[in-house]
This record gives sequence, C-alpha cells and structure tokens, in this order.
Amino acid sequence: MTDKIPGFTWMKGLLKEVAPEKKVMTVYYKAVPQDDVSPPTSPNSTSTCLRFSRFRLVTFLVVAVLAILFVTLSCLNGGWDPRGSVCLTPTDSVLVHSDVTTHSPLARQVLPHCIIIGVRKAGTRAVLQYLQLHPDVAVAGYEVHFFDDNVNYSQGLNFYRRQMPYSLKHQLTIEKTPAYFHTLKVPERVAKMNNSIKLILVVRQPVQRLISSYVQLASKKDHFPTFEEKVIDPDNDEVNENFKPVKRSLYYIFMNRWLKHFRLDQIHIVDGDVLIHNPFQEIYNVETFLGLEHKISKDTFTFNRTKGFYCLKLDDELGKRTKCLSKSKGRKHPPVDPEVLLKLRRYYKSANDLFFQQVHRRFKWS
Ligand code: A3P
Repeated sequence: MTDKIPGFTWMKGLLKEVAPEKKVMTVYYKAVPQDDVSPPTSPNSTSTCLRFSRFRLVTFLVVAVLAILFVTLSCLNGGWDPRGSVCLTPTDSVLVHSDVTTHSPLARQVLPHCIIIGVRKAGTRAVLQYLQLHPDVAVAGYEVHFFDDNVNYSQGLNFYRRQMPYSLKHQLTIEKTPAYFHTLKVPERVAKMNNSIKLILVVRQPVQRLISSYVQLASKKDHFPTFEEKVIDPDNDEVNENFKPVKRSLYYIFMNRWLKHFRLDQIHIVDGDVLIHNPFQEIYNVETFLGLEHKISKDTFTFNRTKGFYCLKLDDELGKRTKCLSKSKGRKHPPVDPEVLLKLRRYYKSANDLFFQQVHRRFKWS
C-alpha cells in the first residue's frame, strides 16, 4: 500500500501523503488524484488523528465505566435478572426462587390485575394466601406499598411492575397492601394507573378490627397502655379518635374516596368475619369476582384446634402437610371491659350504617 502512483495520493480522512519525501502515512484506503486532495487542515495531521482516536477511546471508556457503575449500584441488593434485563430487589430474589412459575422462560412481571386494598387486620393475608393456591393466580409475596409511599411512587410504574411476581400469560397478578385503603392519595393514583382494575376489600366487625390493630401495636412494645386506656379519652370519657386504629374502622370515610374513582362493582368486599369461620365460601366468591374457574376446593381447608383458625392442607413436592398463617395472624385478644365494648359499638353504629348504604350490603355487626 505504500507504493506511489505518480499524480495520486493515498488518503483516509485526515491521513495523507502529499509528497514522496514526507513519510508520515500509516493507513491508506484509496488513491485519489493529487488535485482532489484538499490542503492539510493542520500542520501535523497524524497527531490530530491520534488525538481524535484517543478522544473516542476515552469517551467509550467513560461511558462503559458509568454503565457498569449504574448497574452495580442499582443491583447491589438483589442482583441482575438477565431475562428481563432488570435488577432484582432482595424480595424479588426470594420470589424468583420460591415460585415455580419463575422457572418458565415465558414468565414475566406485569402490573397487577387486582389489588387487595385493605382493611388492615381484617384478614387480608388469609385472602392472599388462599388465592395463592389457585393455578391461575400469581401473588406478590410481600406488601409492595407503592401507591401510599411517596418515595416508591416517585420511582414510577416500571419500578412497581418489577415488584410483581413472575407470572404466565394466563395468570392474574395480585398484590395486597392494606395501607392503601386509608391513605388519602391512593385511590386517585391507582385509577391513574388503571381505572378498570379489580379491587378487593376485606372488612371485619369494626370493634374486632380495632382490638386486632391494638394487639398488633402492643405486641411490638414492652410496656403498652391497656386497650381501654388507648381507646377511651380520660378527659371526656368518649371514644378517643386520636388513636389512629379507631378512625380506621370508620370504613365509610375511606370508601367514599374510592367510590369517587371506581365503580362499586369493581370492588369486591370480603366478609372478614365469615372468612374466619368459612374460608371456602369467601374464597369461592372471590374466584367468581375475578372470573377464575373454581379450583380452590373445600377440602383444602382444615380447622386447626391449636391455632384456633383454618389452615391449608397442602400436598405438593414437599409432601403432605398443613400450613397455617404465621404467628402474627390469629393472636389472642385481651378481655375488654364490657362498658367500653358497648361504647365502641354505639360509636361505630352510624358509621356502619353509612357504609352499608354505600356498598348496598349489610354485615352482621352488632
Ligand atoms: P387477629 O390476629 O387479631 O386474630 P390481616 O392479615 O389483614 O392483618 O388480618 C389479620 C387477621 O386475619 C387476624 O387477626 C385473624 O383474625 C384473621 N384471620 C382470618 N383467617 C385467618 C386464618 N386462617 N388464620 C389466622 N388469622 C386469620
């Protein structure tokens, strides 16, 4: 390539040999008539080229390092899923290993088709756990807190999708976060994502739900006031509305917000009190609401005397066994002063009536 052709010069970009005595060429592509060669743009065109290549190399290296840094930082906790080219949070990783579906190459993460929105301490975990038995359902293994947590919400729907379990095309994806029901901005945010989504609301006799909520709080502290001390205001002997769990049993307040964004027929209400004594009936109704075939059979449920609640009879790759909800579900409730109970029942009476009107259904809450 270094042979000379009289009247021609070899060139590629800025590299050129314009005179036989100037031996500065390194790469040649084609011979062009000397007349076509434009004058060198720099007195030292070879070093211009080298600077140019170095610039490209440095840019490439910087971009590569930044990309590696980004992936490493975002995956620090949970690793990288090459299938979806996404990082996994630690809990995602747990789901990936625990859910058989995830081993299918066709499995993917999609936004939920249905959300269990609450009410806290009404039996939401039981509903989700029972639904998990259905082959056409994939459930999120933990409470996602996307719509009620501003930091999570600010990360966008793609972040939310990545918190969902892996599912196959025929499966419905379901998540439950009971804090959604009473958090102000949630109904609007959910509707913005999908205003035709199906919602499940589990309700329970308001005083029982309040006691359950109290027991949960008390279980986390060594010295906690008694139930009566918490729910009755000593100044006026009235129900203490400043104790948050009291207000959270006023279902009509929160239902009002949801009904501003969703039709009533989009919200299926599970009777949490019936759920305790007849889980099959309630889960059958949920299957109907979700348009699922009735595949969760009555035999699946077995009453466990020790726990005092229904548990699940499982027969899978781990063998035959009974699976109950965790210890934090079905706790013993303290005895409550009958006068306080009466006061609370009276307090909730009108709120319950308003709720019954809203949902066109009455519950046996005395
Ligand atoms: P308690 O622990 O006060 O009895 P959530 O899952 O929404 O937090 O609701 C917890 C409540 O679910 C429990 O409240 C319990 O009454 C109810 N529950 C319904 N079915 C249950 C089951 N099979 N095992 C345990 N708890 C169940």
